[in-house]
Amino acid sequence: MTTPLKHGPPTAIEPQPSFDGVDLQALAARLGTPLYAYSASAIRQRIGELQAALAGLDATLCYAVKANSNRAILALMAAAGLGADIVSAGELQRALAAGIPPDRIVFSGVGKTDEEIGAALAAGIARFNVESLDELHAIERVAQARQAMARAAVRINPDVDALTHAKISTGRAENKFGVSIAEARRWFAERRQLQHVQLDGLHVHIGSQILDLTPFRLALHRVAAFWRELEQAGHPVASIDVGGGLGVRYRAGHDTPVAAADYAQVIREALAGFGGRLLLEPGRYLVAEAGVLLTRVLRIKEGTERRFLVLDAAMNDLQRPSLYDAWHDIVPVASTEGPAATYDIVGPVCETGDTFARARVLPECRPGDLLAIQGTGAYGASMASTYNSRPLAAEVLLDHGRYAVIRRRQTLEEMVAGEQSAQDWATP
Ligand SMILES: Cc1ncc(COP(=O)(O)O)c(C=O)c1O
Repeated sequence: MTTPLKHGPPTAIEPQPSFDGVDLQALAARLGTPLYAYSASAIRQRIGELQAALAGLDATLCYAVKANSNRAILALMAAAGLGADIVSAGELQRALAAGIPPDRIVFSGVGKTDEEIGAALAAGIARFNVESLDELHAIERVAQARQAMARAAVRINPDVDALTHAKISTGRAENKFGVSIAEARRWFAERRQLQHVQLDGLHVHIGSQILDLTPFRLALHRVAAFWRELEQAGHPVASIDVGGGLGVRYRAGHDTPVAAADYAQVIREALAGFGGRLLLEPGRYLVAEAGVLLTRVLRIKEGTERRFLVLDAAMNDLQRPSLYDAWHDIVPVASTEGPAATYDIVGPVCETGDTFARARVLPECRPGDLLAIQGTGAYGASMASTYNSRPLAAEVLLDHGRYAVIRRRQTLEEMVAGEQSAQDWATP
């Protein structure tokens, strides 16, 4: 049986007619859907909050490029004085092109190739966050070949439960990231054998969408104890990178993010007396709530058991719900006095997982209605694909009533550019 329409009172859902002073109906009419729209003002506000919370500390914010790697977003970060946390040569290139100074770039990730290490050395990045002994040796080898000196931090895996979704948890011993403190201790004891790597930093990142200070506190206390131990053993620590992970509000009235000031206080307490450079790698916190994905209702399908609201956005545009069962608030753009209805909100992709929400209550919708999927500024467009041969959505930056297209909608020709029929056969 299809869930009956509730012809009860209108829903309490707040419509979102505008964003950063821009009328969203007019924007979608002009640029089409699906369309990612980001508020520059909201991003600047988040940067300001974090910078204010860290006032007085020698702290550099290295924006985690993976959260939203559009170069206009990166340019905004550069203009605010931020550095970058990168995980590939592609992200290095984007960060440099956007004007982020190399001495504010740190390079994380378990699978850096020799080519990527070489490119980062050539650019003169601040630090490699090293995730394995094999990688440490690779950096030594590549730096030696270039007669360069690499600066490195060991990524500590503190074996802390970040109390978040398993797929975005990175600080448990079972995760692929970082090394144990016992292993890091051996690296420092033997660091003088390294001729081309200056190992003098610590790094930790325990996961993402963390809504509780306890895991941060626990991880930082473990790192702080290790820093003190290293100093006593005659290994000065020049920098401590506390990673990212600050959670955001995806679900109104449900998620309670940690305040920037409280997070900063945890850092101040845990690392009291540390005289070196602090690095932070926020991603989601800076951009998630600054983005909406605008999408139109294609049709309403009455299934035998569920009522489906079929949108023109799909899992290829926004993967988080299918990947992590993530919740995003979905609201109408136009204010509506209509009765409430319950829908499974889905995209057109041929996967059952192409579902944005199940049994979600919305004001009753009609084909053509415009909806805003909120909280999609992070890990939205940057994780998009062309699955089902759906071109990448357009992206637009909003700022005090104006908009600028920062990625035009991909054409079908662009989507298949680079492919060719198998004509020139060869043997390797
Ligand atoms: C090493 C590292 N730093 C920072 C981040 C950013 O995390 P968040 O967006 O939760 O702040 C990530 C995310 O995966 C990461 O892997």
